[in-house]
Amino acid sequence: MAKITLRQLLDHAAERDYGVPAFNINNMEQGLAIMQAAKACDAPVIIQASRGARAYAHDIMLSKMMDALAEIYPDIPLCVHQDHGNNEATCLTAIRHGFTSVMMDGSLLADGKTPASYDYNVEMTASVAEMAHAVGASVEGELGVLGSLESGHGEAEDGHGAEGALSHDQLLTDPEQAVDFVMQTKVDALAIACGTSHGAYKFSRRPDGDILAMHVIEAIHQKLPNTHLVMHGSSSVPQELQDIINSYGGEMPQTFGVPVEEIVRGIRHGVRKINIDTDCRMAMAAQFRKVAVSNRAEFDPRKFLKPAMDAMRDLCRERFEAFGCAGNASRIKVMPLDEMARRYATGLLDTQVAASRAA
Ligand code: G3H
Ligand code: 13P
Ligand code: ZN
Repeated sequence: MAKITLRQLLDHAAERDYGVPAFNINNMEQGLAIMQAAKACDAPVIIQASRGARAYAHDIMLSKMMDALAEIYPDIPLCVHQDHGNNEATCLTAIRHGFTSVMMDGSLLADGKTPASYDYNVEMTASVAEMAHAVGASVEGELGVLGSLESGHGEAEDGHGAEGALSHDQLLTDPEQAVDFVMQTKVDALAIACGTSHGAYKFSRRPDGDILAMHVIEAIHQKLPNTHLVMHGSSSVPQELQDIINSYGGEMPQTFGVPVEEIVRGIRHGVRKINIDTDCRMAMAAQFRKVAVSNRAEFDPRKFLKPAMDAMRDLCRERFEAFGCAGNASRIKVMPLDEMARRYATGLLDTQVAASRAA
C-alpha cells in the first residue's frame, strides 16, 4: 500500500515543478476513475473527501475504500485528504480513519459559512497542525475567503463557502499576512483566495487573461517560496460537458470556469494542489443524462455508471497531463507517517527552516 502524505507529495511536485489535481470523491466509481487515469499516465494522486462526502458514504466505507484503492494500485502514491475541515474534531477523526492529510479551513467559522477573524484562523489551524504533525499527517490551511471577483458570482452558489457579499479585500489573500500565517501555524500547504469560487457558476462571461489574480499568487510565492500553494474552485466547467448535459434534457445556464491554461500559469508560480470537484460531477452527470435519454428502457445502474466512470477517468487524465503530474508516480518512494512525524519533531520540516536555507 502506498498512502503518501500531502507534504511529501507536494515537496516532490515543487522539486520537479508540477501541480497535483486533488479530486473530490463520494463513491467507489469516482475513486476507481481517478486511479485508472493515474495508472494510465503514471501520476501520483490526491483524493479528497468533504464533510458532506463523509456523511454520505460513511467514514468506515470511505476509509476501507481508500485502502482498497491503494491496494489495487500499489504503484500509485495516494494521498487521502480531508477537504475543508471545519474544526479539530473533523480533522482528527479523518486522521483516525486513515487520512494522511487534512485541511483546517479556519477562514470560516465552524458553520462553514461565516468569515472568521484572523486570530481565530491562526489559533485553530496552529492547533490542528501541532496535533496532525505529531502523527506525521499534513495540514493545509486557508487564508482569505473564496469567491469570484466578478460581483454576484460564486458566493456559495453550491452551498459550500462564505455566505453573502464579500469585500474585495476578503476575496484576495494578503501576501504579508500569508507570511505571518504560515510562520505561526506551520501549515504544509496554504489555500489562497485569488478570484476563484466553488461550484459551476464562477463567471458569467468567457474569462480573459486576468481571471485569476495572478499578481497575488506571484507575490505570495515570492514571499513564501517554500510554501505549497493550493487553488480551490479550480474546475474549468468545460463547454462540451455543459452541451452534453443540456442536449439531454439538462437546464444548466451558460457559465464559465477557470481555464486550464490559467491553472498552468499558477503552477509556474508555486501552485501545487489544484482542487477539482465540479468538473468530475459534470462529466458523470452528462453520461447519466445521455444514457437515460438515449436508452429509455435501461435500468441497470452499471449501464449508467460505467460510461460515467469512463468520462471522469478521461477528464482526470487530461488534468494529470496538463498539470505536469503524469510520469511522476514511479519517481516517488513513499515515506511512512512515522518517519514524517520524526522529521516534524526534529524541525526538519519547518517551513521557516526551509525558507532560510533557500535564502
Ligand atoms: O469544496 C467543495 C467541494 O466541492 C465539496 O462539495 O461539500 O458538496 O461535498 P460538497
Ligand atoms: P470546484 O467546485 O471548482 O470543482 O472546486 C472544488 C474545491 O475547491 C473543493 O475544495
Ligand atoms: Zn474548496
